[in-house]
Amino acid sequence: MNRRNLLLGAGALAAAGGAGLAGWSAAVGSTADYDRYSAGLRAAAPADPALADLIRYATLAANGHNTQPWRFRIADAAIDILPDLSRRTPVVDPDDHHLFVSLGCAAENLRMAATATGRPGTLSLEGTAARYEFGRGPARADPLFDAIPLRRCSRTLYDGRPLSSRDLETLERAANTPGVRLILLTDRPRINQARDLVVAGNEAQMTDPAFMAELKRWLRFNPRDAMRTGDGLYSAASGSPVLPAGAGGFAFDRFFGAAAENERYARQIDSSSGLAVFLAEGADPAHWMTVGRACQRFMLAVAALDLRCAFVNQPVEVAGLRPALAALVGETALRPDLMLRFGRGPVLPFSPRRPVASVLV
Ligand SMILES: Cc1cc2nc3c(=O)[nH]c(=O)nc-3n(C[C@H](O)[C@H](O)[C@H](O)COP(=O)(O)O)c2cc1C
Repeated sequence: MNRRNLLLGAGALAAAGGAGLAGWSAAVGSTADYDRYSAGLRAAAPADPALADLIRYATLAANGHNTQPWRFRIADAAIDILPDLSRRTPVVDPDDHHLFVSLGCAAENLRMAATATGRPGTLSLEGTAARYEFGRGPARADPLFDAIPLRRCSRTLYDGRPLSSRDLETLERAANTPGVRLILLTDRPRINQARDLVVAGNEAQMTDPAFMAELKRWLRFNPRDAMRTGDGLYSAASGSPVLPAGAGGFAFDRFFGAAAENERYARQIDSSSGLAVFLAEGADPAHWMTVGRACQRFMLAVAALDLRCAFVNQPVEVAGLRPALAALVGETALRPDLMLRFGRGPVLPFSPRRPVASVLV
């Protein structure tokens, strides 16, 4: 029996023991309501958007555990993007690497949305913050801007077929950023070696109670909780069933084990067309934000081509595995920052986001 069946079983048990269908609906909320909420978050920006619309687009960026560790401050002809250290994840991300990568992803969305809709400007990274200074200019069509509301992580099985060299070049070009190296692995022997590192990393993380406790805090087992908090890892966005919070927590503690997850990650990577490994030429917040910008552009190019991608970061999160990943991509002097798999496949529901008002300083 796989993890999903086990979770479903636990859910059914909880439902049978609970107050029936009405009680279930009250406990988990409605997926139709969630779809409406999701569509509102991703509504197309108007032709001359308000700054709040640009910030909404920024918040649609990828970010670790969907903690959304950012704050936005509107100044005169500028928007500052500041870290929100109350949203750190110290176990998986003890040096705030992911936090600053996430800031870079949001900063790149903001820059792109502003440039495309008539506020061209300059993005500068200053210490642990980013600042976008803008003026007024003509709108400039950009397919990556159009892809901002479409982009998401797709933690699904892909079809395993290789991508054309033209698509691979498009992805590389989109991500091309001074100070960042991107290595695409498309040959099975190296993909297999990277897969084994993912499995080793996953094993280390899932047998660490502190990692599991931190992960559990950011899980949202149903649409009601995902909409209420506007953050975290919504179960349906990872292909897991919707459950009342109590049953979800119970199933997570009892049934969410390393062996099944290792097997799932291995199958997902086997089904992928390739892996993308990002390495910055330095290891400090400015470089991490820069790598986030490059990665966000890569993911938007994936979405614009109607392809899929998902992070498989275990070998960069488990520090002891970084040297092996660096060696695998021929960059032994650098720290690998991010790894994603990509290919063609189905999508799952979008992840939640907090409203703009709650991320403004
Ligand atoms: C720095 C960073 C690290 C991430 N690490 C992982 C990861 O290891 N596994 C994973 O499934 N998703 C990972 N993600 C993806 C986030 O969980 C995802 O972006 C977030 O839940 C929001 O979902 P969305 O990207 O679909 O909007 C990472 C994202 C960032 C920016």
